[in-house]
Amino acid sequence: MKSINEFQNKKKNNNPITMVTCYDYWSAKIINETEIDAVLVGDSAAMVMHGFESTIYAEVEMMLYHISAVKRGLKDKLLIADFPFLAHGKGKRFAIEVADKYLKNGANAVKIEGAGSTIDIIKELIDSGIPVMGHLGLTPQSINSLGGYIVQGKSSHDAEKILNDALQLESAGCFAIVLELIPAELSKKITEQIKIPTIGIGAGRFTSGQILVLQDLLGLTKDFQPKFVRKYLNGFELIKEALNNFNKDVKENLFPNDEESF
Ligand code: KIV
Repeated sequence: MKSINEFQNKKKNNNPITMVTCYDYWSAKIINETEIDAVLVGDSAAMVMHGFESTIYAEVEMMLYHISAVKRGLKDKLLIADFPFLAHGKGKRFAIEVADKYLKNGANAVKIEGAGSTIDIIKELIDSGIPVMGHLGLTPQSINSLGGYIVQGKSSHDAEKILNDALQLESAGCFAIVLELIPAELSKKITEQIKIPTIGIGAGRFTSGQILVLQDLLGLTKDFQPKFVRKYLNGFELIKEALNNFNKDVKENLFPNDEESF
């Protein structure tokens, strides 16, 4: 899938959309050969790839480095990239400059967290021809205000606000919205009330599609097992075993053998 139209048609045709995060060339090459629909260069790169404690440490330069590496491996899929913390809080000019760099480094669209005062910036980007994906519910860049990685929209007041924000993002021209860590019933209501696709993470099964962090899906994050993650591989243990096997073979003089030598 290469276009925003195709992405949106999936919802119209009732076809679930699949997305994973991706931060580097070699995993982009693998994803490129799968049926996964689209890729997000998430600002979660700050945590997953750089070991920071939250996504607020992602910077424009860091994101550009990951976007261009992913682009070199991802030929046939839509590449969406996160605006980092405060990049949309520094005025329209700055936001346009960031988006310009993102697109020139290979992104097809940008994702921006939140609504409210961000709506004007989002409209400006969309008017300038930059496709924008929204992100509501748990917005990790606001972790210090939200008080932790906790389910959002549980009270009827909070649920109403998230629904109104989704309607506003749709009117502003967003092509899709990520819904993170909200009750399944709320994401169902939002998905029914807006025409653009919703992509869920920890938001139940009634969204138009799902996204997971690649390293979570592959079981590479050993001590991280939130309720909403399904591990499709025990990657951590498999990689550890391979490394230990290499170590053992070298130490027992079993690698390299004659066939592996010149
Ligand atoms: O940065 C990220 O990985 C994300 C996903 C959780 C949607 O925004």
